[in-house]
Amino acid sequence: MILRVPIISVQEYAEKIIESVRREVGDGQVILGLSGGVDSSVCAAVLSKAIGKQLTCIFVDHGLMRKNEADEVKKAFADFNFNLVMVDAEERFLAKLSGVVEPEKKRKIIGEEFIRVFEQSQIDLFSHSDKSQEFFLAQGTIYPDVIESAGVKSHHNVGGLPENVDFKGIVEPVRELYKDEVRELGRVLGLPDYLVDRQPFPGPGLAVRCIGEVTKEKLDILRDADAIFREEIGKVADISPSQFFAALTDMRAVGVKNGKRTYGYVAALRAVKTTDFMNAEIVRVPWEVLEKVSARIIEEVDDVSRVVYDVTGKPPGTIEFE
Ligand code: XMP
Repeated sequence: MILRVPIISVQEYAEKIIESVRREVGDGQVILGLSGGVDSSVCAAVLSKAIGKQLTCIFVDHGLMRKNEADEVKKAFADFNFNLVMVDAEERFLAKLSGVVEPEKKRKIIGEEFIRVFEQSQIDLFSHSDKSQEFFLAQGTIYPDVIESAGVKSHHNVGGLPENVDFKGIVEPVRELYKDEVRELGRVLGLPDYLVDRQPFPGPGLAVRCIGEVTKEKLDILRDADAIFREEIGKVADISPSQFFAALTDMRAVGVKNGKRTYGYVAALRAVKTTDFMNAEIVRVPWEVLEKVSARIIEEVDDVSRVVYDVTGKPPGTIEFE
């Protein structure tokens, strides 16, 4: 049998990988696009332990994040020693998305804009650097990405190069590891469970869960409904969906709130179980949980008047709505 990784403890593995990154980078500067997902977060933790302030992480907030997401990332890394640059690009993204309803067009706009913002941030940060300084680009590539020979991961991890910065190399500290091993490494390095146990979140963020045109108003409604659903599912011990979230349909329905007629959005809830994300089964969330979530959303989120549960498996559905 060929072993991919020698059998050593996660602690020993962490020390080995930290040492090897330190040797590879030397006195160089490393730039990492941090999305708050498991892979880039663990990558940031390894690099931070290895090279401290020689690491600069760029977190692009495209305004399509879930509730409190940017703050959670900041909090998770509060005790780590590296430069964390939060780029507030909400207005830029929402302006580009204004009036766009076609799903593929939305995705394309977000992907392109992401690269542009990431590039501009690097130029702003490093264009006055000492010319002898060596730069490396880090990526949270993991082993399944390597075997699928995906090359570079989704747009979240791709960075264009500022003209005056010539990257000496790519650093990929977690490229030998499967997802569950990445999570273990993250825990050993001191990342909180809420970050390492995160469910996957698509690069285009809530734009693919906000059906039709994406507006700040709709995103705020969606963020509140989604936070309630995730909070209530988190309390249920015996179902463990692989992915669960709310989406906002582009449809309105009549309802009654506090004795008054309402005409708010229809929110949809989705929870699926899967191992490979190619096929997924719907999760039979107990009725009483769905009823509680529905009641809370109607009560607490203005402008939602109906809540529905998506019972479509994959195939024929996809996990995301767009
Ligand atoms: P679908 O909707 O195709 O999703 O069934 C399968 C899995 O992929 C995630 N997903 C994405 N992840 N960038 C990502 O990083 C994307 O553009 C993207 N689109 C979908 C989705 O959340 C699910 O886990």
